[in-house]
Amino acid sequence: MTRDDWNKALQAAPTGLYIDGEWREASGGGTIAVHDPGTGEPLREVADATPADALAALDAAEAAGPGWAATPPRERGEVLRRAYQAIHDHIDELALLCTLEMGKSLAESKTEVAYAAEFYRWFAEEAVRIEGTFARSPSNNDRLLTMRQPVGPCLLITPWNFPLAMGSRKIGPAVAAGCTMVLKPAKLTPLSMLRLTEIMADAGLPKGVLNVVTSRSASAVTKPLMDDPRLRKVSFTGSTPVGRTLMEQGSRNLLRLSMELGGNAPFLVFDDADLDAAVAGAVVAKMRNNGESCVAANRFHVQEGVAEEFTRRLAEKLSALKVGHGAEEGTQVGPLVDADQRDKVVELVTDATDKGAKVVTGGDAPDGPGFFYRPTVLSGLSEDARILREEVFGPVAPITTFGTEAEALELANGTEFGLVAYVYTRELNRSLRVSEALDTGMVGLNTGLVSNPAAPFGGIKASGFGREGGRDGIAEYLNTKYVAVSTG
Ligand code: SIN
Repeated sequence: MTRDDWNKALQAAPTGLYIDGEWREASGGGTIAVHDPGTGEPLREVADATPADALAALDAAEAAGPGWAATPPRERGEVLRRAYQAIHDHIDELALLCTLEMGKSLAESKTEVAYAAEFYRWFAEEAVRIEGTFARSPSNNDRLLTMRQPVGPCLLITPWNFPLAMGSRKIGPAVAAGCTMVLKPAKLTPLSMLRLTEIMADAGLPKGVLNVVTSRSASAVTKPLMDDPRLRKVSFTGSTPVGRTLMEQGSRNLLRLSMELGGNAPFLVFDDADLDAAVAGAVVAKMRNNGESCVAANRFHVQEGVAEEFTRRLAEKLSALKVGHGAEEGTQVGPLVDADQRDKVVELVTDATDKGAKVVTGGDAPDGPGFFYRPTVLSGLSEDARILREEVFGPVAPITTFGTEAEALELANGTEFGLVAYVYTRELNRSLRVSEALDTGMVGLNTGLVSNPAAPFGGIKASGFGREGGRDGIAEYLNTKYVAVSTG
């Protein structure tokens, strides 16, 4: 990958607001700089939308709504199927943009592009399976008919960590359901989504269905939209504190909400686990996306009989990973997204070591440029180490031990979060018992990866509510209408 390739991909990315099928500058003329986390250098400037721009995007979404809702489901599905193919046709370019703005390695970015594309294929197939019901009333005097209809204009707010996939798992079901939308990508990583928007338009998505506004201040564009009674739904992926604020704002217009919020995933390894599989799964659960994922394993609880060996083997694997600029040949671990993210990781590791944790490998941030942190394993943590309670969002694996299954469950469930937990055991009864007892929306049983467009992704407790992907994903964008039919 040469600098020429970088420049070509960067120059091909649109940088304006996409409203009513047209690219335009921000009405206030403002722009936001997007940086390369591997060098700290600026890449491009994108438009900084004003509240008026956000409302213009909602005007377009509202105007396109009835036509899109009435478009045959097969046609909506075919647009999505063409988008799936077009994303694959542009996989190298999209992956490079994603790496340049977010930092992850090119191999990781390609996996993300393929993951994103799969949401369009899945929801292309779901568009034609929006079903209702028909029943006799218990008295037999009436017939009960239900139908499912698009909720209306949606606001989709996406995070910086998976710039393509998180938007795609909202756009896919919204388009399939017949909704129109305004999408606000994260200001740190808007370029790949802007390019994807252009690809969607080329795939035949009519004007006004998808509108995209980038902004330096999220609330400057989301608040006017949420205060406008024409908006009917918000789907948000991001932190729990921001999710709480959006819920308060959404109460005014009683908006439908989907909230995919923070996590603090425990990774449990029992004495009877296949240790090769557990170590391989731990590398995936920890290192996917540089650990910058809400489903990343945040803490490892390992049964006493295998703790020493598991720790040694995990440290061996993580210390062998090549750290470097994401677009360089051979890089396995890129930089973290910015200085704030890197400093948060430094702070949590320092807190743990100040309280007695031992650094088994890593434990430092190499000098810049770029915001790197070495893959790290910590052992001997004190119970009050913040890293066991707070989401680290970086390549750090803190390991603690447990004696019994009951202790493992107490540790795993001792958090306000409830997104995902990972369990490694070869015992069938324990697999089911522990999976049932975990307070999470998802469980990885002998696997370090739960993310799958065909499965319902989502959490409980402070990790939010609503499901994305699978059969449930489209339901977030549909209202059920009931028609009472008299037979008298
Ligand atoms: C996330 O980090 O928000 C989700 C990651 C995934 O879909 O795997």
